[in-house]
Formats: sequence, C-alpha cells, structure tokens
Amino acid sequence: MKRYILTILFLLTLLLPAYGAGNKPVLRMVTSANFPPYEFHDNNTIVGIDVDIVREIAKRNNFDLLIEDMKFDSIIAAVQTGKGDIAASAITVTEDRKKMVDFSIPYVTSRQVIIVPGDSLIDSGKVLKGKRIGVQHGTTGDNYVTENIGEPQRYDDASMAITALLKGKLDAVVLDYEPSQVHAAKNPALKILEEPLFFEEYAFAVAKGRGQLLAVINQTLSQLKKDGVLTEIRKKYEKHTEEVVKNVTEEKYTGIAGDFYTNFVKDNRWQYLVDGFYVTIAVAVSSVLFGVLIGFVVAVIRSTADQTGKLKIANFFCRLYLAVIRGTPVVLQLLIIYFVVFGSVDVDKVLVAIIAFGINSGAYVAEIIRSGIMSVDRGQMEAGRSLGFSYLQTMNLIILPQAFKNVLPALGNEFIVLLKETSVCGFIALQDLTKGGDIIRSQTYNAFMPLIAVALIYLLLVVIFSKLLEILEKRLKRNE
Ligand code: ARG
Repeated sequence: MKRYILTILFLLTLLLPAYGAGNKPVLRMVTSANFPPYEFHDNNTIVGIDVDIVREIAKRNNFDLLIEDMKFDSIIAAVQTGKGDIAASAITVTEDRKKMVDFSIPYVTSRQVIIVPGDSLIDSGKVLKGKRIGVQHGTTGDNYVTENIGEPQRYDDASMAITALLKGKLDAVVLDYEPSQVHAAKNPALKILEEPLFFEEYAFAVAKGRGQLLAVINQTLSQLKKDGVLTEIRKKYEKHTEEVVKNVTEEKYTGIAGDFYTNFVKDNRWQYLVDGFYVTIAVAVSSVLFGVLIGFVVAVIRSTADQTGKLKIANFFCRLYLAVIRGTPVVLQLLIIYFVVFGSVDVDKVLVAIIAFGINSGAYVAEIIRSGIMSVDRGQMEAGRSLGFSYLQTMNLIILPQAFKNVLPALGNEFIVLLKETSVCGFIALQDLTKGGDIIRSQTYNAFMPLIAVALIYLLLVVIFSKLLEILEKRLKRNE
C-alpha cells in the first residue's frame, strides 16, 4: 500500500506546476479579460489599456505584476477577500460598489451605448421597452437595463451578447462605448447609436483598509496623467482598433477556409487550444491519481468497517464525505474551494482544480473500489488470515490486486467522465481546453469552428483512452 501511495504522490508532484516567487513584492491585478480595448486576450497574453496602466504603476513602484483573469461579476469580491490587490477592469464607480471597495481617482470618462444591427428600427434608448436586450452580467449596463427597461439577457462576456445579436437572438446590446466600437469595427453589420444612455467614470478598486496601496496608485495615476502617458496608452489601443478594422476589410480567405483561417491560424489562435489541452490533461490526470489515492483509503476504511465492525469514527467521516461530495454539483465544489477554502490565499488555479476534481473523483472512485473489494470472494480473506497474514496484509496482497482488476473498466469510465467534467474549469477562469475554445469564440464571434474543434479534441482523447484501456484489460485477462 505504501508503495502505491508513494508512487502516486510522486507522480502528483511531477504534475504540479512549479511556482516560485520573485524577489520583488508582487502586485496582483484582477481583471476580466473580455473587454477590448481595456483588457483582452491577444496572442495568448492579456493586454489592454488597464493592463498597460497597471503595468506602469507596478513598474514605477517596483512591484512585480501578476494578472489574474476571472469573471467580471467576481472581481469586486476578489479584491475584497484578498484574492487580488488591485481590480482593473474598466470598472465604473458606483455608490453600491463604493460600499464594498475603495476606488482610486478616475482615469477615464465613459458612457453606455446601444448596439443594434445596421438595419434595426431601434434609434434611441426610448424604444427599448419590450425588446430583447443583451448585457454583460453584473455590469452597470446590466443594472441600468434591469432598473429602467426590463429583464435583460445576461451573458458572461459582451462578445457572447454580440454573437447573439448577430444571430438575431437579440434586438440590442447595451455596452460601454469603446468596447462597442471594437465590436462594431469587427462586425460591419452592426451600428452604434451614438446618443449615450448615461455617462460614467472608470477607476481602480482596492479592498477597504488598504489606504497605503490606494495612495500609491493615486499618486502614480496623477503622474501618468500629467506625463501624458495615459493619453499615450489610449492612443496605442486606438491604433489597435484601427488595425482590427483594416484586418476585417482585407481578410485573406473566404468561406470555410476563411473561417478556419480566422479561428485557428490568425494571431496564432490555435495556441489557445494547445495550451488549454495541456491544462486539461494535467488537471484530469493529476486529479484522477489524487482521486484514486483518496478512493483507496476511503474504500478500505469502509469495507474494513463493514466487515470487522472496527474504525467506526473513520467510517462515519468517510460516509459524510461521500454524501456531501456526491450530493453537490462539482462546479459548486470548484467555486467553493477557489473562493472560500483558498479565498484569501494565493494558490495556482491548476492546483485548485486538481484538488477540487481530485476530491470529487475520490468519492466515486471509493465506491467503485469498494464494490471491487466486495466482489472478491470472502473466502479469500479467510484463506489469507489462516496463512498467517494480518488483515491489512491480506487486503494489500490478496484482495486489492484482484479488486483492482475487477473494477478497471469502471475506473476507466470514471477517468472519461472526469476528463470531460474538467471543462467547467472556466468558472474559475482557468484556461483549459474548453475555455481556450471559448476565448477564440469571443474574439471571432464564430461559435461553430472553435466549439466543434474543442468537442472533436475531447472525443479523440476519449476514443484513444478507451482503446488503451481495452488493450490493458486484454493483457490482464491473459495474465490470469
Ligand atoms: N464599466 C462597466 C461596469 O463597471 C463594465 C465593465 C466591464 N469590464 C470588463 N472587463 N468586462 O460595470
């Protein structure tokens, strides 16, 4: 048993991402990188106006910058709970938010506008009642529409709303002006109604009680304004938008080849899939190993308790674990581990995912292995004991190897389930395979190509793995 455990632990450490700390203090920026030109993915890095400004703040104050990507509606909570130091995400200063965090001096005045299809009859905010309106969840646009017009359709990012608008599933989208310009530039079929719904100001947010950090941010921001660096940064991204327009008008290929080119080749977008693939594999394989480790221990405790009446307390906790884990959705477990358990500590998201999926899978593996142990004839235990082996020795040398063989198909199946289940990693903004495809979708507004590609990759993985399992099973049978 010890050998199994040690091997598994060793493999786990191999798969864990190495993370070391630099020597400078770290400034952790939290953002929701789906908001060009303020924060977005470009060539596999997060860039944008906010990123450049905070980078400058970090540089001038001798911090190392670390960027953490998450959903927009989690950002305020993230700085509140200490998951990040500075929230920079085109965040509008509002009275409600001021109750939860402290804001820096504003760095941009912006406005909310309406985007509609070019041929739409909607020509002002006054005729939006009863229309299907898309917004990004948790934004000021969302609040405005909810309070003044009616229930909007809430999306995780604006590009999803834009895609829905392009497909005729919405009549209008309410969004900040500059991001709207980028979306309209990329999609000539859309137009922006220039008349603003309302004006607002963006600022950075920090947790309450971090006056010192806030002072540093404000000081540097004023300086950046004075130096003209702020204007420079904004100009740089205006150019970026212009470039986007140029690229749209001189697309190299058309039809399916064109779609393929934009979704995978252009800007090295395929890299999102490759990177995501590695994350998915690392999470799935490590957590299944972790799960098998937990599963073994729990199964042995459970069956020992069943058969000998010992280990009552341990058995109670094992049953509690099984009930809780199998009784709640894995997404919730992932969110709880990320936001609550590791709420205020800085842990690598890959590690968080491995722990969450490992604990989750362990519950299923435990029952699989227990059924394996039950399936081994009771006489085997008696035979082992009468040969002079202890209970644990018999378990280890006689029962478990047979049990393992019996449950191999079920364990293989568990891995297949887990592999696909890791696709919810995007909930904590971990860039797994699914999220990689989703980032491409958000950049190209094309759902078909990236999502089908991702589906095919999962399918291929499962087919290959099933084949391997089949071969292994045949081998074991031959060895009998
Ligand atoms: N300015 C709006 C707000 O604060 C939208 C910001 C959305 N930002 C983002 N990175 N997605 O609610």
